[in-house]
Amino acid sequence: MDHTTPDAYTVRAAVALAVRAPSVHNSQPWQWHFSGRTVELRADPRRRLRHADPDGRDLLVSCGCALHHFTVAAAAMGWAAQVHRLPDPARPDLLARIDLVPHDTRDADIALAAAIPRRRSDRRRYAAGPLPVRDEIFLQKSASDRDAVLRIVTEAPRRSALTGAATEADGLHRADPDYEIELAAWSGRHYAPDGVPARNAVRAPVSPHELRVREFAGARLPDTAGPDGAALTVLATAGDTALDRLHAGEAASAVLLTATRLGLASCVYTEPFELTSTRALVRDCVLDGRLEPQLVIRVGHLPPGAPPLPATPRRPISEVLRPVAHPYGAGLPIPDQLRGR
Ligand SMILES: Cc1cc2nc3c(=O)[nH]c(=O)nc-3n(C[C@H](O)[C@H](O)[C@H](O)COP(=O)(O)O)c2cc1C
Repeated sequence: MDHTTPDAYTVRAAVALAVRAPSVHNSQPWQWHFSGRTVELRADPRRRLRHADPDGRDLLVSCGCALHHFTVAAAAMGWAAQVHRLPDPARPDLLARIDLVPHDTRDADIALAAAIPRRRSDRRRYAAGPLPVRDEIFLQKSASDRDAVLRIVTEAPRRSALTGAATEADGLHRADPDYEIELAAWSGRHYAPDGVPARNAVRAPVSPHELRVREFAGARLPDTAGPDGAALTVLATAGDTALDRLHAGEAASAVLLTATRLGLASCVYTEPFELTSTRALVRDCVLDGRLEPQLVIRVGHLPPGAPPLPATPRRPISEVLRPVAHPYGAGLPIPDQLRGR
């Protein structure tokens, strides 16, 4: 038995955890390929949201989240991931080539991987009260370890600039029929393997002082009572290249899994960054024009007694994991253990 190459079961199990990563509208815009100890993550451009995500930022950030989830899952299973990001300039869809090498799993690897199936995008209002300083430090470090900055927005003028940008983005999107049709196609369903299910979506607040959540179709999730006490954070990068966006996704995944491990609820929100004008507003008024905003992450505690949320479904593994195509064009045979779901 070869102990330096993961078997197909291990790769499949790690990808099954990787695809639990958050993605914009639960679009899951990725494909995974593997051969021996090498796994490739490729973007699936057919799943880009043409109207919500015209320049593909959310797609890259989503794939970055899945990339980080994969490395966390692999580490818990005894494989360290050596990641080569955007390794082939002629193939921009090839986002990462990952070589798996044997690794001594630590308790911290298992604790982080255990957060993957427990994490949810929780769009409800959170309880009042600041985050413990210790938690803030953990969250910020998980971003800074991945070339990103997690800015906790506390000052009133900055919070109202962020809230204003969100309200403006919502208004601009509402006036765009193509955006509305696309959103309706990707939300409000009950048992689809992708999209945001009705049971996970709450109605957006009407108060101009609260950060809007994206208004998905058919929202059926009852909101919690009281004003939203979530800590508002903006995850930002120094630049805005494809590599920066990939790093932003990896950092977002690290922040979200760390939050889950700390017992905190969380949710990503990117609507203001999908439009040039509202993105510029956040860059200038929240980040002093020095950093590129990539995601808002709300973090906090749910009010006592709030019922747990169901997990959002994912596409079957057989749709997203394939053996690497043979260099001469013919596909390698799919091992029996990778057929089916
Ligand atoms: C790049 C990106 C953008 C997202 N934007 C939003 C958003 O604007 N509003 C929102 O409620 N959720 C947003 N999400 C969360 C997704 O809707 C969520 O991850 C998906 O529905 C799967 O659900 P889960 O995170 O509970 O597994 C975003 C996620 C990512 C990765």
